Amino acid sequence: MNDDVMPIEGYDYIEFYVGNAVQAAHYYATAFGFELFAYQGPETGVRDRVSFAMQQDRLRFVFTGSLDPNSAVSRHHLTHGDGVRDVAFRVPDASAAFRAATTRGATPHRSPETIVDDHGTVTLAAIKTYGDTIHTFVERTGYGGGEAYGEFFLPGYSPRSWETPRAPTGLKYIDHVVCNVGLGDMDTWARFYADVMGFTQLAHFNDDQISTDFTALMSKVLWDGEGRIKLPINEPAAGKKKSQIEEYLDFYGGPGVQHLALATNDIVGTVAALRTTGIEFLTVPGTYYDDLRVRLDWTRINSDIDALAELGILVDQDDEGYLLQIFTKPVQDRPTLFYEIIERHGSRGFGVGNFKALFESIEREQGRRGNL
Ligand code: FE2
Repeated sequence: MNDDVMPIEGYDYIEFYVGNAVQAAHYYATAFGFELFAYQGPETGVRDRVSFAMQQDRLRFVFTGSLDPNSAVSRHHLTHGDGVRDVAFRVPDASAAFRAATTRGATPHRSPETIVDDHGTVTLAAIKTYGDTIHTFVERTGYGGGEAYGEFFLPGYSPRSWETPRAPTGLKYIDHVVCNVGLGDMDTWARFYADVMGFTQLAHFNDDQISTDFTALMSKVLWDGEGRIKLPINEPAAGKKKSQIEEYLDFYGGPGVQHLALATNDIVGTVAALRTTGIEFLTVPGTYYDDLRVRLDWTRINSDIDALAELGILVDQDDEGYLLQIFTKPVQDRPTLFYEIIERHGSRGFGVGNFKALFESIEREQGRRGNL
């Protein structure tokens, strides 16, 4: 198991590099219900960037914008637009995690560094992964709390909040983080997570499971064996027209995070709240629900199909249980990153029964953009 090689306690944070961190933070607060809790920038002695650290339940997102046109943040934004830079893992020993990963073939990004300030001690190290994305290993020795985050995020940050509290929307934690990689690269990155991180394969979807008349993709899901970390890896497969993965790769300028799945215990309440704040979701035709009524075993599903249909929430069922899910449209100018909202009832799947309806919906949007 991976614990022998590299124990991971969970996601520590997701950092986004964006064109305007003030407005991104405001959007995630107003639309998604995140709360600002820490900040770094010129006022805290950081000259080249500003970062807003936001949280909701166990989710922690950081939005970083550049103050220097020649900085790495600016270059990242020029190439990729707004997107995920860092999928950071909390580990018990960041130096050991870095050593294990780089010994097993990972490219170093940042050598281990221990930082002490008035609020505790943190050790940070980072490795490169697909594209310009990195994994930071975060070791907190009483710094900023564990699962329940305190107001102290990382050295360099100061506690900060807005006067008006935001209403949470019920989003709780990261269920999975999906990346898109180039044609032929899925196995390379699956091997990376197996060899470097000690992950194992949870699921594999091939192109005849994930295809429509137009496009196809293949996907492997790597996980830590315990369910804390699940990382599906997509690559495009040959289709009649440009696949949604190729559209992503074209507009993101290479591989990167395609979507983050955020878990809720009340998807009806969460999606109703998100619709009220203006989040736009992919839609499926009404015939999808006619099909569901027949296809699924509703004696084993404790959810009201009419309520789900009204909000456009999708349902999938397998031997272990069922799941409810819905997908947003892209949340920045480029057709790249989007969100999945998911509520699980026993199922450990990813909604394979919904892939066809979903991809047809994505293709309708691609067609509107002239990218099909
Ligand atoms: Fe997903």
